[in-house]
Amino acid sequence: MNTYIDVPTAPDPATAFRTEGIKLYGPDAFAGMRLAGQLTAQCLDEISEFVRPGIALADIDAFVRNFAERHGARPATLGFNGYNYACCTSVNHVVCHGFPTTKKLRDGDIVNVDVTLVRDGWFGDSSRMYAVGTPRRSAVRLADIAYQAMMSGIGVVRPGATLGDVGHAIQSFAERQRCSIVRDYCGHGIGQVFHDSPNILNFGRAGTGVELREGMIFTIEPMVNLGRPEVKVLADGWTVVTRDKTLSAQFEHSIGVTAEGCEVFTSSPAGLHMPGFDMELTQHA
Ligand code: MF3
Ligand code: CO
Ligand code: CO
Repeated sequence: MNTYIDVPTAPDPATAFRTEGIKLYGPDAFAGMRLAGQLTAQCLDEISEFVRPGIALADIDAFVRNFAERHGARPATLGFNGYNYACCTSVNHVVCHGFPTTKKLRDGDIVNVDVTLVRDGWFGDSSRMYAVGTPRRSAVRLADIAYQAMMSGIGVVRPGATLGDVGHAIQSFAERQRCSIVRDYCGHGIGQVFHDSPNILNFGRAGTGVELREGMIFTIEPMVNLGRPEVKVLADGWTVVTRDKTLSAQFEHSIGVTAEGCEVFTSSPAGLHMPGFDMELTQHA
């Protein structure tokens, strides 16, 4: 997720329905994104095989480095603005950008693993929540709401819909479940660069903002908190946590707008959308 760069954060009538500056991609780009996205998704699938109590976050990082190397890809976060790991691992009340340190996972933790692999120049950016052992019901519920919030946003993507429609779908779903949306970070355009315009806000008003067009490529990556939406960045300059220390959850897909709706480049080949979670405890909406 990126901090806001060059697109207004609030709906502004002067810039509404502007699409200048947002790249439109053709079939070759979609093919490149499909390969990069599927590689990232396969990496996230394989991580689910060893996430359990007792493993260290650094084990996940080592796996991602090795996976990338074996598949002729590069982890985009390595060296990105001074970030020195192959992925981000955000446990419990960590919202995003957590360092994969030697800290060990414990039974009941929920952890977001965010991986971006670059293959043949295209960036596949995706993250999922993983259950470690048996998280408490509130944690399972939060992860499920974050997943469904992301899918609600993806569900309205089609030519003619607006970015406000996307933000509104995500926000209204999460808030209907009495959870809150983090405002300080957002999704982003992606393609042959990591973070491009436009910003994809996870809140907004239906019918406002940039109109989507076939060929746009971006991420949808809402961060949902059980408590209040406020966050702070720790002294390490990266780790984002909830101010009230309540749990936070996030999922991320890289998608492309098609004539009919959208293509999800980073969908799980193995169907592991919510790795480790007991699906009987999920499904709220
Ligand atoms: N993968 C994150 C995103 O979804 C970005 C992480 S940047 C890092 O955009 F430097 F923190 F790794
Ligand atoms: Co992203
Ligand atoms: Co990401």
